Amino acid sequence: MDDKIAQRGLIVMRDPTVFLHQEYEELVKNELDWKLRILQGPSTPWCNVDGKKVLMFCSNNYLGLSNHPKLKEAAMKAIQTHGAGSGSVRPIAGTMDLHMELEKRLAEFKNAEASLVYQTGFAANAGLIPQLAGKEDLIISDELNHGSIIDGVRLSHAERTVYKHSDPADLRRVLDEAEKHSPPYRRILIITDGVFSMDGDVAPLDEIAKAGAEHGAMIYVDDAHGEGVLGEGGRGIVSHFKLGRDKVQVEMGTFSKAFGVVGGHVSGSTDLVNYAYNKSRTWLLSGSHPPAVVAACIAAVDVLESEPQHVRTLWDHTHFFKKAMKDLGFDVGRSETPITPIIVGDSGVAKKLSAKLFEEGVFALPIVYPMVARDKARIRTIMNAALKREDLDFAIGKFEKIGKELRII
Ligand SMILES: Cc1ncc(COP(=O)(O)O)c(C=O)c1O
Repeated sequence: MDDKIAQRGLIVMRDPTVFLHQEYEELVKNELDWKLRILQGPSTPWCNVDGKKVLMFCSNNYLGLSNHPKLKEAAMKAIQTHGAGSGSVRPIAGTMDLHMELEKRLAEFKNAEASLVYQTGFAANAGLIPQLAGKEDLIISDELNHGSIIDGVRLSHAERTVYKHSDPADLRRVLDEAEKHSPPYRRILIITDGVFSMDGDVAPLDEIAKAGAEHGAMIYVDDAHGEGVLGEGGRGIVSHFKLGRDKVQVEMGTFSKAFGVVGGHVSGSTDLVNYAYNKSRTWLLSGSHPPAVVAACIAAVDVLESEPQHVRTLWDHTHFFKKAMKDLGFDVGRSETPITPIIVGDSGVAKKLSAKLFEEGVFALPIVYPMVARDKARIRTIMNAALKREDLDFAIGKFEKIGKELRII
């Protein structure tokens, strides 16, 4: 499928926009286009989607905080006291006392010397990774790392390589190989997701950190799906493995998932934070969060510290649901977290299962190639602490009924 190019004399005549239509049509033909479902109201356990009341089973709002009264109240109050927008980028005139308070509170929550808040998790990875490793350096990345890490690595001038998914032995092989490089690499940066979002498995961060330490490598973990879920009171993967800051130097995360709001962040040493905000172009050159967002994030940290029941409920629900689905004969893969994939293999079956679940009142999206291997299409369910046990029974009943109809179980 070529763009239209014609030549008149020495001048190449190009159609500047024909690819837009052609490539979109190609996606539609192959059923690879995103068909957006519209949420008509808040992201609550029972919510309105495309005019239908359904059980939310696929949001990243693990603890139900996006609709927590304390977060909503804090956001509304901040608009009254600080206005609707921040007015600028952080380094010019867009740093408010609220931004500073959030970073202080987050660092305390994370037991880190300091934290820095970015506009999104994507902006944190895309802005910071290229600054941590340059021309004389090497980045070693898990082969299944998130797209925002991949883009951050692409923006770096460092050499790059991958190790087999969550395989410390392969990481060691790559590190040993790296030591043969001449001249020796100045720095080595190892990056991994904490929880992998397609399968819900947890990176062996303790082993990764150990292997890295033997080579003086810096360890960077993206804990987007571990925060609010793993570790003491939802403090994340570094807490889960009881690793000190000397073992994992960069703990990156997001306020867009369990925290229920939006925004990326990194935590670590004061040196890391001073370096990060002076160097990350995504932080320096993009407007800061509006007051309502920042205040809601502060309230989310408050809720995590003062209401530990949400994390407990999340895990109770997770164990109950996984066991029920396994007992029914579904393949739930290697998940160890509230992300439970229901692997059905064929992408057509996954799409049918999702469509029928929706008809019956359960909202859970299919994940198909190219996001996962062609024969590993699935429904990805994500548990939510705001659900009730009877909601889980309802969803399990629907999975059983439709799973049998489609001969998956
Ligand atoms: C592992 C991982 N890292 C980073 C991000 C980006 O986070 P944000 O939504 O804050 O941009 C996501 C979100 O999909 C993610 O799953």
